[in-house]
Amino acid sequence: MRIDEITGAVVSSNPESRRSLSNQLTSTGAVRILADCDYCLSQNDVALRRLVEAGPKIVLVDMEDAKKAIASLKTIQHALPAAWLLVVSESMEPQSIIEAMRAGAREFLPAPIASKNLSEALRRYVDHSLRSSETSLKGKIFSVISAKGGSGTTSVAVNLSAALTSCPDSTVALVDLNSPIGDVAAYLNLRAQYSLSDVLEAGNRLDSVLLGSYMSQASGIAVLPGPREPNAAQKLDWQALPHVLELLTHSYNYAILDLPSGMDPEQLDSISHFSSAVIVVLTPELPALWRTDRLLRFLEKAHSNEKVRLVVNRTAKSDEITVKEIENALKYPVFSQFPNNYKASIQAINSGIPFVCVNHSSLAHSYAVLVERLTGHAIPRRRRSVFGLFR
Ligand SMILES: Nc1ncnc2c1ncn2[C@@H]1O[C@H](COP(=O)(O)OP(=O)(O)OP(=O)(O)O)[C@@H](O)[C@H]1O
Ligand SMILES: [Mg+2]
Repeated sequence: MRIDEITGAVVSSNPESRRSLSNQLTSTGAVRILADCDYCLSQNDVALRRLVEAGPKIVLVDMEDAKKAIASLKTIQHALPAAWLLVVSESMEPQSIIEAMRAGAREFLPAPIASKNLSEALRRYVDHSLRSSETSLKGKIFSVISAKGGSGTTSVAVNLSAALTSCPDSTVALVDLNSPIGDVAAYLNLRAQYSLSDVLEAGNRLDSVLLGSYMSQASGIAVLPGPREPNAAQKLDWQALPHVLELLTHSYNYAILDLPSGMDPEQLDSISHFSSAVIVVLTPELPALWRTDRLLRFLEKAHSNEKVRLVVNRTAKSDEITVKEIENALKYPVFSQFPNNYKASIQAINSGIPFVCVNHSSLAHSYAVLVERLTGHAIPRRRRSVFGLFR
């Protein structure tokens, strides 16, 4: 794989330093600056939002104010885990180097930056990127969760997975993390030989090949169902979960996680860390709003608010609570809306075939819109048949 271009950003409280550091990076001929901003001291910082939106591959942080720079490195590392962080500092004290490295810095450059030092640092970044692109696929994890049971989490996880299989050259995994018994296998009419219990049990022995051997195929999706036996769920060793999530990103372009509404907070924290997006599903009703509000505050504490994608399921013109009111109450924008269509939903569950595969309804179309927003890939709209008009 070739590294086409290094996109970068510069963080400093001093506009003059931002300008000169940006110029220095640009003058290497290898870096295109996407953003420069002030220190990012919290996850809600406007500066951090700008950085996340720009999505640079490298971020150069000015250590002029060491305390603020260290805090910024930590928040940036949380919000942009794949970014390569460099710091520039006038002080070469071992203690500040150690602190910066612990906060996520990969390179420590003495100020003023000598062009030789900068070129060498960029070369190390390129080498690292080439190595990791050769060994890993770096797929995306989309977690689907709701704060209230029955909101449509499994329906969204299953149909989103099926819709993602239409993206060019995509491999999609769907993992049911509900225990004791999840619904994914039933929604896909799947009698799987293996389940989540087997994968977690394999622990450190697990690699991409073994993981693949535990998956079952349905509607073009590699599926890992939840444990079948209620007793098996009690014995699950969740310690292996981070390793499983890491492996999923190395094995599939997209891994969709169907999460239970009562997810253990520690696991949810770890899952949200691995996820590119946390899709929070709710229906337009008051109890769902209250519970979703609590879930969103938890995700904020886990520094995952930037990843939240709010999805309102089962919307109808007659809804007493409007999307605008939901946005105002939860203080998050609504990312997607799925219309209420019980007939299509239940027919899909009974037949074991996701409705996005067979149905031409506006509900099915909403998933194409969701996929495009999440991945940037447009899925061609299925043509409506005469019958489709009446669905
Ligand atoms: N857009 C929709 N329109 C109408 N019905 C829907 C829609 N989405 C889901 N449903 C129906 O809502 C019910 C619950 O859906 P689903 O099982 O996906 O929810 P869940 O959040 O996973 O539930 P649980 O908490 O039990 O895991 C199902 O009968 C499903 O068919
Ligand atoms: Mg479910």
